[in-house]
Amino acid sequence: MDTQEWNPDKLLALSGYYWRSFTLHAAVKLGIFTIIGTEQLAGEEIAQRLGGEKRGVITLLNALSAMKLIAKAGDKYSNTPAGISFLSKDSPEYIGYMIMHHHHLAESWSELDKAVRTGSAVRSRSSYNNEEVRESFLMGMFNNAMNLAPRLVDAIDLSDRRHLLDLGGGPGTYAIHFCLKNPQLKATVYDLSSTRPYAARTIEKFGLAARIDFTAGDYLSDDIPGSYDAAWLSHILHAEGPGNCQKIIKKAVSVLAPGGMIVVHEFILDNTMDAPLFPALFSLNMLLGTKNGRSYSEREIMEMLAGAGVKKIERIPFRSPADSGLIKGVV
Ligand SMILES: C[S@@+](CC[C@H](N)C(=O)[O-])C[C@H]1O[C@@H](n2cnc3c(N)ncnc32)[C@H](O)[C@@H]1O
Repeated sequence: MDTQEWNPDKLLALSGYYWRSFTLHAAVKLGIFTIIGTEQLAGEEIAQRLGGEKRGVITLLNALSAMKLIAKAGDKYSNTPAGISFLSKDSPEYIGYMIMHHHHLAESWSELDKAVRTGSAVRSRSSYNNEEVRESFLMGMFNNAMNLAPRLVDAIDLSDRRHLLDLGGGPGTYAIHFCLKNPQLKATVYDLSSTRPYAARTIEKFGLAARIDFTAGDYLSDDIPGSYDAAWLSHILHAEGPGNCQKIIKKAVSVLAPGGMIVVHEFILDNTMDAPLFPALFSLNMLLGTKNGRSYSEREIMEMLAGAGVKKIERIPFRSPADSGLIKGVV
């Protein structure tokens, strides 16, 4: 959307954009793209297969067709190539977990005014005790990382490293891609014990169980066992305030051998704090869901690393489509 010159048309289009988001969310939640698969189906047939009422299902199908998310010919609906690749659960490139994660966040976003006024979260961490919410969060991280990791691993030279710590590694997607790229490398994914089954499943899927293990722990309150020559901290700092970020970085540094490399991957703000757009919006998402989390600027992350004794701190020239970036240093 061109934001250079706002006018009423553009402002109203922006204001109502969530109708489109919710249309996509409902279609993924109901499994519309999976049900259609490679067939051409009438609305009644789709309604019957998903156990839904005809009026509602056909209204949704027509809106999806208007958004070009499915195709309509006569009274039959079919998937687009993108729908089959990315929105059908049968595809290995399915990104529906991340879409469902967005959906679970939506309720809190509707209370943003409240979070802004009070400066406190309106989303409870306990929502992650729900299996479906946890699965869409962790596998949503997998969707995002799977999309980015194959390009990102080329930006970091781990060719002389032996053992990588993937701190808060979630399903282990980056550990997997670093190991695929660097045949000599082993990795340890350190995350909460509830993450173990997701990491085990993903690591197994890539046939890397002999090179990537999982350590269960809480990086705020527990020790990190072992010694490493590289540490990867991807999207974990933004959930914490500056004090805890410093604590986490110091803990990672404490298990690095001399010469060990530490790399932070985050949605990095410019030092002005108001750009790029995605990190600025992501900070609101952290206001909605955490006590002290937010996006950090390049300067802030570099200061945290320096505060933990890290040297040779530099920004790696890599920028993802969501404006995540990389800062590395050596201990
Ligand atoms: C946003 S995800 C990032 C996952 C992965 N690093 C990536 O970039 O795709 C944050 C991860 O940190 C983990 N985590 C959050 N708090 C933690 C804690 N106190 N100790 C260990 N892991 C934690 C979560 O379980 C989750 O897997």
